[in-house]
Amino acid sequence: MPAPERIPTGRLSGGEPAAEPAASLPGPADPARAAAVPEPAAGLSAAFLAEGELTVRGRIREASNAVLYCTVEHDGRSAACVYKPVAGERPLWDFPDGTLAQREVAAYEVSRACGWDLIPPTVLREGPYGTGMVQEWIDPPESSDEVPELLALVEDEEPGPGWKAVGFAELGEGRTALLVHADHPRLRQLAVLDAVINNGDRKGGHLLPGVDGRFFAIDHGVTFNAEDKLRTLLWGWAGEPLPAEAVEVLSGLRKALADAAPLAARLAELLTDAEIEALRTRVAELLRSGRHPEPSGEWPAIPWPPV
Ligand SMILES: Nc1ncnc2c1ncn2[C@@H]1O[C@H](COP(=O)(O)OP(=O)(O)O)[C@@H](O)[C@H]1O
Ligand SMILES: [Mg+2]
Repeated sequence: MPAPERIPTGRLSGGEPAAEPAASLPGPADPARAAAVPEPAAGLSAAFLAEGELTVRGRIREASNAVLYCTVEHDGRSAACVYKPVAGERPLWDFPDGTLAQREVAAYEVSRACGWDLIPPTVLREGPYGTGMVQEWIDPPESSDEVPELLALVEDEEPGPGWKAVGFAELGEGRTALLVHADHPRLRQLAVLDAVINNGDRKGGHLLPGVDGRFFAIDHGVTFNAEDKLRTLLWGWAGEPLPAEAVEVLSGLRKALADAAPLAARLAELLTDAEIEALRTRVAELLRSGRHPEPSGEWPAIPWPPV
């Protein structure tokens, strides 16, 4: 692909978390603990996140809701995590029921049931600012060489080998470019997961590069609406047959969502009945068509800006 204009994914341009002291929310942070240095979070269990002692270290700037960088300590181990208290959520007119935190946890539960490990462990728990979601912190790889290239803007009409086209984007001053994403198996699993959870906000900044060239998906507060809200960058497979593995996973998910199955019972604590019914319908429809969903309008529904 000739000289593409790379769109940074995750914090490719960021590095250290841009945290500032969490002073503007109600309730006490504990400055006495601020000196402890967290170990890198790696494959934390949900129980560790749920049961450990949570200490707020700072607040992430430029987040649309309150996003707090924290440590969680348990059995002598300490790890970094993110804590988004419900008290810091901005209300959304089209999501009148439930909370962003509950939907983030529901998204994790569905991801886990799919066996894809795309969303870092996420739990609902109490914290210094009340109930919220707590999620494992994904540290960026030490070297930018390890960061997979997932999104790009290119000046060609067609995506190059290994890339899928999303659509043409206006760059201003009469310039247009083709928005492309990588033809990456993990990204393709995420496209299926997003269709299942009806993700209304899948942008590049929500793909966090981790170690070993892996990446993780975050920010799932705007999901599970009973109406179609799929807004994503990952339209490159639209209309294509689902991979056999995805069909197998979706068949398992359909069973896991049956009444009284443990996943359905867990989701009932987090989502409305209508949202769960719509989730079942989306899974059934994906299995019926056997294809990646297509955007309903002329232009794919993509979040803008895409990062
Ligand atoms: N699990 C995580 N690991 C590492 N960084 C995170 C994680 N969750 C959030 N962040 C950082 O915090 C920023 C804001 O989080 P996000 O989930 O987008 O919040 P909001 O709900 O306000 O949109 C992200 O862009 C990212 O830099
Ligand atoms: Mg966000």
